[in-house]
Amino acid sequence: MPDSVQEQLTKHLTDVHSIEEQALTQLRRAPGIAGDEELAQVFDRHLIETEEQERRVRERLAARGADPSTIKDLAGRAGGFGMVLFARSQPDTPGKLTAHAYSYEHLELAAYDLLALVAQRAGDPETAGVAREIREQESAMADRLAANFDQAVEASLRKLEPDDLEGQLTSYLADAHAIEAQSLQLLRQAPAIAGDSNLAKVFRDHDEETQAQQAIVTARLEAHDAKPSRFKDVLLRVGGVNLGVFFGVQPDTPAKLAGFAFAFEHLEIAAYELLRRVARRAGDEETVRVAARIAVEERAAATAIRMQFEPAVEAALRAQGATA
Ligand SMILES: [Fe+2]
Ligand SMILES: [Fe+2]
Ligand SMILES: [Fe+2]
Repeated sequence: MPDSVQEQLTKHLTDVHSIEEQALTQLRRAPGIAGDEELAQVFDRHLIETEEQERRVRERLAARGADPSTIKDLAGRAGGFGMVLFARSQPDTPGKLTAHAYSYEHLELAAYDLLALVAQRAGDPETAGVAREIREQESAMADRLAANFDQAVEASLRKLEPDDLEGQLTSYLADAHAIEAQSLQLLRQAPAIAGDSNLAKVFRDHDEETQAQQAIVTARLEAHDAKPSRFKDVLLRVGGVNLGVFFGVQPDTPAKLAGFAFAFEHLEIAAYELLRRVARRAGDEETVRVAARIAVEERAAATAIRMQFEPAVEAALRAQGATA
């Protein structure tokens, strides 16, 4: 039975509700592990906003005669714990926390972009309006996190001996390598989901670019007599991305794939922003240059993916035979 656009909209609302449940779990614990007063306040402030967002989404569900999904919300909370545990387990907890939070805010941003598009199609301007307002809050939170990348690096390195900078730099390079490995895995699955679309072309182009990026990172590791870490390559693949049940480990529709990939590009952007700062402290100007250049490429990829949100939603609604 094809879903109607009305059913799709209600489903999207239960999805974003679970995303907010995951955000709440993360934000309640983030200040305690942020390692920096200013950064902790950024999380505290967004916790209050997020409580309001959760309530507003629940109200929109109620207005449509629906409830949040217990199962999705549970999965969201579990994902939130997973993210916090992952950040805690890392030697550079504040950096990892900030990078993942930055990516998570972009996941939310994408989810509300998609929600607004579906609500528009379903003729529900109230929900579309709420989606756009919350999206702006997520976007502003992401900007505040980006403004605190310096503090995150500072807090991560504070406890280390000065002569450990070299070790930190190679560790951040190995992280970047692992993230690129994960990116390649995602991009390889993408064409099967994205089908014959402009979105598929965006993914194919970025696949090529990603291989080049990974080679550059490997060369920087070699310049420091280091190698990619098999352990990290596997660990990050498993635990590094808790980007929410909405998109899942294997997103099944082009729209969800696009949203997930958009958030993933922002995990990469954050990783290179942090790497750039660590490299500067370590006096490795070549890595500073390379990290800045790759970050520009990741931003361009994220923008190209976001431009496909609308066509992807349209295609999804068409494919499901959804009618108003
Ligand atoms: Fe939120
Ligand atoms: Fe948020
Ligand atoms: Fe990328």
